[in-house]
Amino acid sequence: MKSLPLKYRPQQIENLIGQEFITTTLKNALTTNRIAPAYLFAGPRGTGKTSTARILAKSLNCLSVEQPTVEPCGECSSCRSIERSNSIDVTEIDAASHNGVDNARELVELSHLAPSQVRYKIFIIDEAHGLTNAAQNALLKLIEEPPAKTIFILCTTELHKVLPTIVSRCQLFNFKSLSQTAVVKHLGRIATTEKIDITPEAIDAIAKSSLGSLRDSLQLLSQLQVLQQQITLDVVVEAVGGISPQELWKLMVNIIKEDVLNVLLIARNLIQTGKSPELILKDLLSTHRDLLLIKATQKDCKSLILSNLEYAKLRQLANKADRHGIERNLEQLQKREQQLRFSINNAVWLETCLLNMMNATRTETKDSHADRQSPAKTAKSTVSLGELWTRIVNSTKSSNQKMLSHANLIGFDRELNFAVLAVEPKYVAKFQNHTTCLSRIISQSLKQQQPIKIIIEEKQ
Ligand SMILES: Nc1ncnc2c1ncn2[C@@H]1O[C@H](COP(=O)(O)OP(=O)(O)O)[C@@H](O)[C@H]1O
Ligand SMILES: [Mg+2]
Ligand SMILES: [Zn+2]
Repeated sequence: MKSLPLKYRPQQIENLIGQEFITTTLKNALTTNRIAPAYLFAGPRGTGKTSTARILAKSLNCLSVEQPTVEPCGECSSCRSIERSNSIDVTEIDAASHNGVDNARELVELSHLAPSQVRYKIFIIDEAHGLTNAAQNALLKLIEEPPAKTIFILCTTELHKVLPTIVSRCQLFNFKSLSQTAVVKHLGRIATTEKIDITPEAIDAIAKSSLGSLRDSLQLLSQLQVLQQQITLDVVVEAVGGISPQELWKLMVNIIKEDVLNVLLIARNLIQTGKSPELILKDLLSTHRDLLLIKATQKDCKSLILSNLEYAKLRQLANKADRHGIERNLEQLQKREQQLRFSINNAVWLETCLLNMMNATRTETKDSHADRQSPAKTAKSTVSLGELWTRIVNSTKSSNQKMLSHANLIGFDRELNFAVLAVEPKYVAKFQNHTTCLSRIISQSLKQQQPIKIIIEEKQ
């Protein structure tokens, strides 16, 4: 069975979705027979570049008509060999894997051979940014003085890595990410044709998760189709490893309420049920971004929403939150996203991030004289955190005491069994490498039954 992205590869310019400008321009070029010697298709992945390159090749070389055509037959030997990537006249080069000068030389040699049987000799150079500078220079010479009847079609996801001299010699087409609405419509149509049992919410979620790439969204639909069950929102969320809308809602409500304890509990629960901190962070990022969008635009912006939360729910959240708070949280989340990528202790990073988000709001909005024991102002005992810390430090060997002097206890929760330490920047890494040891010292001193969880923050 063919996968859906392959099965639904557009075969004619007419079938290309969401790239109206490109469709019109190419159609005009073909009908008026004004063909450029070099094209450059640039844009995000899965938006139709390679498909269009093949369509253009077929349109130029279809044998069923005398002239280039907007409706290649798909049946003649030329069309069929292009489809199977074994045409003698249409050479596809994947520059991501063949990027050296040798390949560029090969190209130069090949291009000097006249087309064998058809109208044009066509070179499709996919992922053209992968070519080395030397190879790009060799290619440049070719494009500057193209051999007769030879056409180059370059595709790239990274236009900035293509030599400007090449770019300026090509007719440039910018492929756009597909809009949420366009992807939803397309998926809906295919689901109907394929008789896939899928709910509208699930289609929405697939489209959102693929960020405007039709290939990714079709790939995901393909994977879910194999499950042979009704595809619901929950199935999609599960498949992409994200958090369910219900969980996300709970988390967001508590973040906005600044209920530190609940936020940490929910986050921990999510992690324990196998959600990765990266994905939780990503979901929080898109939700905050949506909230900001809703705050900023008075109009209905439903089609621009990225989060899996219902639009009505997002509006509710947006009404409760203040704009500065959202912006600050967004900034925290973005900062941490980077760190999360390189960190081994991701769960702790996420918790720290959540704590900081709420801490930032608190210190700014509340009276700064009020006890600034937060971020986790959760110590339930009457003993202050300072006293507790002194007790801990005194309970340990003098060699440990020296190290502990670079930190303070700024949060402690006996029931949830965690402690937050603010550590001098220079010592953060050291503390992070010794969390097991720290946990032992603190658990013993505070008489916690289980090894206490240590959250390390940089002292401001
Ligand atoms: N604009 C589009 N219109 C219709 N289908 C598309 C479009 N873009 C991508 N697809 C789908 O995704 C698959 C991969 O597209 P492809 O042309 O290889 O994308 P790119 O080269 O831009 O990464 C196609 O086979 C098709 O199923
Ligand atoms: Mg491609
Ligand atoms: Zn044909």
